This record gives sequence, structure tokens and C-alpha cells, in this order.
Amino acid sequence: MKGVILAGGLGSRLRPLTLVTNKHLLPVYDKPMIYYPIQCMLNAGIDEILIVTGGEFAGDFLKLLKNGKDLGIRHLEYAYQEGEGGIADALKLAEDFADRDKICVILGDNIIEGNIRKAAGDFFTQRSGAKILLKQVPDPERFGVVRFEDDKVAEIIEKPTDPPSDLAVTGIYFYDNDAFEVCKSLKPSGRGELEITDVNNYYLNRGDLTHEVLDGWWTDAGTVESLYRATRYVAESGANHLDMAETAPPLFKESQ
Ligand code: G1P
Repeated sequence: MKGVILAGGLGSRLRPLTLVTNKHLLPVYDKPMIYYPIQCMLNAGIDEILIVTGGEFAGDFLKLLKNGKDLGIRHLEYAYQEGEGGIADALKLAEDFADRDKICVILGDNIIEGNIRKAAGDFFTQRSGAKILLKQVPDPERFGVVRFEDDKVAEIIEKPTDPPSDLAVTGIYFYDNDAFEVCKSLKPSGRGELEITDVNNYYLNRGDLTHEVLDGWWTDAGTVESLYRATRYVAESGANHLDMAETAPPLFKESQ
């Protein structure tokens, strides 16, 4: 299984900080934001990673990460997203990199306390489809939210004004190779973007979407409040949970 980190966007909710670099390179406690999703992948045994970014500061990623070896990434690639087409538009750029393997996708501003090793293992053995990771939040209207019917996921609603549950869809997803065709078939939403929620609803409607609830805290870091929260969570839980030297052995090679 390969890893895709989506780190594009204008970061407009973090201006003026994002006038001088990409949002995902801003500090979260003592490390650049992008280190956290990278470490999350490495902890799950995923060490072939594509970073999709865009905008005028894309070159800053190279200065920081270089070829990724210092961080324990076995193979690092970059892709450049033109414009602001949304998460599912950025994902299209990962098709060649994925090369028909399953992928784990993490939004570059999502930070978790625990790890996704079990979820990655479960998805590796899932015959096809997709898996999403959920987390209870106090402010579900900011996220994709799950509506349940008889304890089963019935629908995912993007930023509902009247949330049907408090379970948000985190920015950590697992997909089979069909995701790319789905992304290509999408129409822009009201906010003019190709929505990852539409990809997830596609898999749900074909009966091929599983989910797990994340252990430990989860936060995004795309607003001043959530960036501050991320920093506080990392500081208080001991930033050293992110120890780059202690990466898990690579797993989930299609050949294994
Ligand atoms: C995106 C997704 C949303 C998801 C969230 C997680 O929202 O569209 O479904 O819950 O990431 O961080 P955005 O960051 O584009 O507002």
C-alpha cells in the first residue's frame, strides 16, 4: 500500500501566516505540520509517499523534505496541483504513483494522537472498496458527518447545517484503484470543489465502504483555532510521540 498526502490549497483561513509559505509547513509545536501525516504513514508501515501540493510555495517542500531519507521515507515523490479544485481533484494526480496499488490518503493538516496501523492492516486485507476513519467531535458542522440508520452508515453529508451525528469523517482514507475513476467522474460542489465526500458516498452506495473510529485525539489544523489546538494537543501529549527515528518496519507491499 502506498501513501498520498494532500498538502495543497491556499490556506486562506490562516492568512497572513500563509502569505509566506504553504499552510502544511507552518509549525505545530516543534515540527512542521507536514511531519505529522508523514509520521502517521511511517508508523503504519507505509514508506512510499506522494505529496500533492500546489501554489507559489510548493518549492518549500523540497527545501524541507528533500528526498525524504532523513525522515525514514524510502521513496518520496511530489505532484503539483494547478488551481484549487478540491481534495478529490488533487487525488487524481496520484493515479500514476499508485500504479494500481491500494492507497492510504491523509490530508496534510490532520494530526492524530494514536496510529492507523490496525486500520491499514484491516484495509490491506479488505478485498476492495474504501475505508474511512471517524472521530467524535463537538463541532460536526465543520466536517463531513456520518448519518446512521440501524447502526449502519447510511450517508455522509459534507458540512451539514443540522448534523445527524457527532461523528466526523477525518481526513484519513483508504481506497482501492477505482477511486481515480470516481474522482474523474465528479462534478464540482457548491463551493466549486471536487469533494472527497462524494468519493466516499460512491463507495457507500456500492456497498463497499468500511469505517473505524479513531482512538486518541484527532484535529485538523487549518484555522487559527484548530492550529492552536493541534499545537496544544501535541505539546500536552508529549511531542515526542513523533519520534522520527522510531519508525515501524515497512508493511503492506503488494508482493508480500
Ligand atoms: C475536508 C473534507 C471533510 C473532512 C475534513 C477533515 O474538509 O471535505 O469531509 O471532514 O476535511 O479534516 P475541508 O478541510 O476541505 O474543509
